[in-house]
Amino acid sequence: MATIYIDNEARQANPKQNLLHACLSLDYDLPYFCWHPALGSVGACRQCAVKQFRNEQDTTGKLVMACMTPAADGTRISITDPEAVVFRAAVIQGLMQNHPHDCPVCDEGGECHLQDMTVMTGHWSRTYSFGKRTFRNQYLGPLVNHEMNRCIQCQRCVRFYREYAGGSDLNAFHLRDSIYFGRHEDGVLESEFSGNLVEVCPTGVFTDATLKHHYARKWDLQMAPSMCVHCGLGCNTTVGERYGSLRRVVNRYNHQVNGHFLCDRGRFGYEFVESNLRVRYPLLNGKAATKSEALERFGALLREGNVLGIGSPRASLEGNFALRTLVGPDRFFGGISDQELQLSSTMLRILREGPARSPSLDEVEHSDAVFVLGEDVTNVAPIMALRLRQSVRQAPMEIAAKLHIPEWLDQPVREAVQEAKGPLYIASPYATKLDDIVTASYRAAPEDLARLGFAVAHTIDSSAPEVTGLSPELEKMAADIASALLGGKNPLVVSGASCRSQSVIEAAAQVAWALCKAGHPAALSFTTPECNSFGLALMEPRPLSEAFRAIESESASTLIVLENDLFRRTPASAVASLLRGVSHLVVLDHLENATTEAAELVLPAGTYAESDGTLVNNEGRAQRFFQVFAPGTDVEESWRWLREGSMAADFKVEAAWRNLDDLTTAMAAEMAVFASIPQVAPSRKIVGKIAREPNRYSGRTAMLANISVHEPKPPDDPDSALAFSMESDPVLAPPSLNPFFWAPGWNSIQAVNKFQSEIGGPLRGGDPGIRLIEPSSMQSWQYYSAVPEAFRPQLDRWLLVPIFHIFGSEELSRHAQGIAQLAPRPYLALNPMEASLLGVKADEQIKVTVGDSQFELEVVLRADLPRGVAGLPAGLPMIEGITLPAFGKLALTGAAPSARGAA
Ligand code: SF4
Ligand code: SF4
Ligand code: FES
Repeated sequence: MATIYIDNEARQANPKQNLLHACLSLDYDLPYFCWHPALGSVGACRQCAVKQFRNEQDTTGKLVMACMTPAADGTRISITDPEAVVFRAAVIQGLMQNHPHDCPVCDEGGECHLQDMTVMTGHWSRTYSFGKRTFRNQYLGPLVNHEMNRCIQCQRCVRFYREYAGGSDLNAFHLRDSIYFGRHEDGVLESEFSGNLVEVCPTGVFTDATLKHHYARKWDLQMAPSMCVHCGLGCNTTVGERYGSLRRVVNRYNHQVNGHFLCDRGRFGYEFVESNLRVRYPLLNGKAATKSEALERFGALLREGNVLGIGSPRASLEGNFALRTLVGPDRFFGGISDQELQLSSTMLRILREGPARSPSLDEVEHSDAVFVLGEDVTNVAPIMALRLRQSVRQAPMEIAAKLHIPEWLDQPVREAVQEAKGPLYIASPYATKLDDIVTASYRAAPEDLARLGFAVAHTIDSSAPEVTGLSPELEKMAADIASALLGGKNPLVVSGASCRSQSVIEAAAQVAWALCKAGHPAALSFTTPECNSFGLALMEPRPLSEAFRAIESESASTLIVLENDLFRRTPASAVASLLRGVSHLVVLDHLENATTEAAELVLPAGTYAESDGTLVNNEGRAQRFFQVFAPGTDVEESWRWLREGSMAADFKVEAAWRNLDDLTTAMAAEMAVFASIPQVAPSRKIVGKIAREPNRYSGRTAMLANISVHEPKPPDDPDSALAFSMESDPVLAPPSLNPFFWAPGWNSIQAVNKFQSEIGGPLRGGDPGIRLIEPSSMQSWQYYSAVPEAFRPQLDRWLLVPIFHIFGSEELSRHAQGIAQLAPRPYLALNPMEASLLGVKADEQIKVTVGDSQFELEVVLRADLPRGVAGLPAGLPMIEGITLPAFGKLALTGAAPSARGAA
């Protein structure tokens, strides 16, 4: 540590950082705009000026930008020096000169960094009385709104969008004395991370376009710590509610998981909670029923016995555990295709029984040699892709280090590094959005991807099985990848279930294990398909096919389906025959779907916004989300419905679960892997009461005055330390329970600075989440020996592989209005050469036959698809329920299925 002197006070600081970073880490208030902990310093805004003195005797000093000056040992600065104070006020005055007077109606109002910094610098009144510069705003799509007149030219937006997130369609356009931040023409922002502009921009140029449809002032939002449920990474969010409806989602910093950013699916997918398809009341035989009628029926069905339960990877641990307990472990089934359950279980086994550790996303970012096998990371696990984009800067950073350029000095680092990028190899069935930063890529069918992985492992450790019959090019690529991974200090292998291939997963493990054996401990990160895929797999449910068989052999009386649309999991004909075998179907879910339609009894299950629960992410980290509002309808947590149903049936076990603590304690006692679940977030007994409403919350006594002038008592929350009120016990909320980041004078998201142990580092009190899985210390693992045969294109069939879309492939977010607008229509992707041999052109219809399913789709040409392989968009309507990869036949509409190449 270095000793620096701030206004004559000796303080300890990290000498590798700059003075702004040091001052903020030490809790000083120093205004800034262009600096961002994730983006580094460029010295553009001149707002962070401080006076620096040569030594104790120097009384003159000089103005320096704190963000551009290292926190070197012995540095003496003054934040309060009058010249520095005047300079900073003058900078704000200049920035505000052209700023519109629209704070009262600005979407950013109340959490605007510009407002905060203006107040902090003491710029109270305007002297400028001439015309203001004005700009035309652009349409940037359904997610992000543009109001350019509010711009203060700090450059953060383009630096984030282009340099950090790899986008290219947002830029700074300069003409005479004007600079414009936008697209070259109106149009939807192309980056999957565009929503972060809302938080990166320190003023109201980029704002949340979805919030605009149901706007509430930021300080009037009741908030809760929550989690994104739209992929398996478990990004932390803060969700905001007003008048009983969910209004928006913003980032909740977790150093180990999502850091400062969310993807657009995570930020804007929330609108499904308010979808017209929401189930808000029980339905009995298709008709609305009261809660007591629903429970009476549910209890009667449970009393009849012979009940089976189907769980879900998008339901919480608590929901799944409650169902498993109610029906018994032998009668609890996975609710995902057998293939998916097998893949999830394999990934878990690899991470628990092998020597390679699953890294946090922060560790992913700090990897310096990466091999991605079989994944389209941007579309499957978007924030991991953003982290990987930073990882390619790790190795070249050594160039800057040799030149003694500190990491935070952004432009000099980029000048020194130029186009150098650390080794990143991607082997996938089709092109990915990370291909612009790869060292090399390889596109092939899943079997061939696996073969490349096994070949890399064999090159690293010759005792791993050899792959024969590889082309010389592929052998060279395997050797290059092996050498890059061996050369890294923190090598990483990324894979997952996207190819739906056991061999691909095993090959990825083989590479990581070979590295471990060679003394280069590698991290192994698997993407997981849904928000609780690993949580469900840890429950060890029985495969879905066994439920089918159980029902065929002794038809079940009642089947309970938890938060799951079975028609997405398995072909419609199979689900229909399953449902014919049960006398009664009970479904708990949020949205109407094909499964709820078939149910006798539908129970309205709370979404993440109306429930508390625990999810296990791809790292194996258990994290908790909390209810942001108590729904005014019969909606409640799935586990609570299951408990109440069992009580109606006079069952005793579930009656003991009076609240979430009871349930997590029962889960910890029953299943050793969940022993630490009660500690994921401390209870009210330990931390007291934490307010969901901020101090500035307004209208509490008036908001229901049209119903009663007496302010109603806020609802109780028996399940957590969080209260539906502004009243809090005077303790600092632990990070896992902190509903929002706010500190006096810091109303924007930048307030997170006040909650970190070091700026950009872990949260004070530790980042939320407890890891449930760790690699084995035993040396008993063995290499996989089954190297698959090379893929052979077939004459009359195509191998259909899933193609993932950030917008559309995920079940819930596609019911959010903004996301729905960006989702593609169902299509078949074909290599143009194969399409021309078939005699079909782009946008024409083609008949696709897979197994018993047949449908007509529009053709999309993709030159990146290997020969013999065609793609279907994963999870889109029409295509759901089909198990891929699978061989399928293609035919021109109106023609019989034709052979490949025979047009
Ligand atoms: S649009 Fe926002 S982030 Fe971009 S330069 Fe202007 S103020 Fe800065
Ligand atoms: S990366 Fe996944 S968990 Fe994170 S915000 Fe996006 S969809 Fe949500
Ligand atoms: S924050 Fe230092 S110059 Fe902008």
